[in-house]
Amino acid sequence: MPRSVIWEDYNYLSGGYDEYFSNYVSPHSKEMVKKLSIEKGASCLDLACGTGVITVELARGTGESGKVISVDASRGMIEKAKEKISANQKVEFIRNDMFDALKTIKKESLDFVTCGWAIGYSSPLKLFKAVRPLLKQNGKVGIIENRQDTLMPLRCAGIEVMKRYPAHIRYLMVLPFYLPKSKEHLKQLYVSAGFMPLYLWEGEVEFNFKSGKDVLNWVLHTGASAGFDKVMDASIKDECDEAFIEIMEREHKKDGRITILHKFVAGTAQKI
Ligand SMILES: C[S@@+](CC[C@H](N)C(=O)[O-])C[C@H]1O[C@@H](n2cnc3c(N)ncnc32)[C@H](O)[C@@H]1O
Repeated sequence: MPRSVIWEDYNYLSGGYDEYFSNYVSPHSKEMVKKLSIEKGASCLDLACGTGVITVELARGTGESGKVISVDASRGMIEKAKEKISANQKVEFIRNDMFDALKTIKKESLDFVTCGWAIGYSSPLKLFKAVRPLLKQNGKVGIIENRQDTLMPLRCAGIEVMKRYPAHIRYLMVLPFYLPKSKEHLKQLYVSAGFMPLYLWEGEVEFNFKSGKDVLNWVLHTGASAGFDKVMDASIKDECDEAFIEIMEREHKKDGRITILHKFVAGTAQKI
């Protein structure tokens, strides 16, 4: 799926992103920032800042004497993030692809780099290698990301829908292939890129729905599956929606509810 389609979808999702996603996962994102122990006056970079959940924590940690640069490709997401920043906080927002933005940042100028729920949009190893030279000695990086086996019922139902209407497939979602498989995998990625892993952990957030229709509504409003409704041709949307709802009800409803586990991996590491 072209990146522009994903970014456009985030513009649309930005209005409900915090309600449908951040409200559930942000305690874990904040825990990741806490483990970085941000010092007053630090220079921080938040890659793929979205609506600013992590940016706000960095700005609070580094205080008025520090600085945060926050990068995101989606205009809508950045607009939402800006609303959360108070006048005395020094946050510079850059709308750009994260790799392109990295090229504009001075070497060894950063104390902390974070990326929440977005390393899967690129090759994580390539990203860590690009980030490393920008960090000062002993600078830290903090990541939280979907695990490769996350949201399985959604992905299985999506594949079933594609199998029913193969002539109408427009794009394939490549995101899952770039996601870390486990905390051991994230550790390997850090080590390969020249970092010393500090804290690594895994977790999951449980989402419960009464019906397949409620699941579909969530999928279409959460950033957890941006681009989901662009996979199939728009001309067949109603049939695909109906098929998705039917599969969720048939395959995943137990005791009157459908449970979706959002599995994640997180970790901090230090430049060595
Ligand atoms: C799931 S959201 C995460 C937002 C935020 N980090 C958080 O913790 O809530 C993913 C974000 O990545 C952004 N994004 C995706 N690909 C990107 C890229 N190549 N460069 C910059 N931002 C990107 C999207 O626009 C979106 O805001």
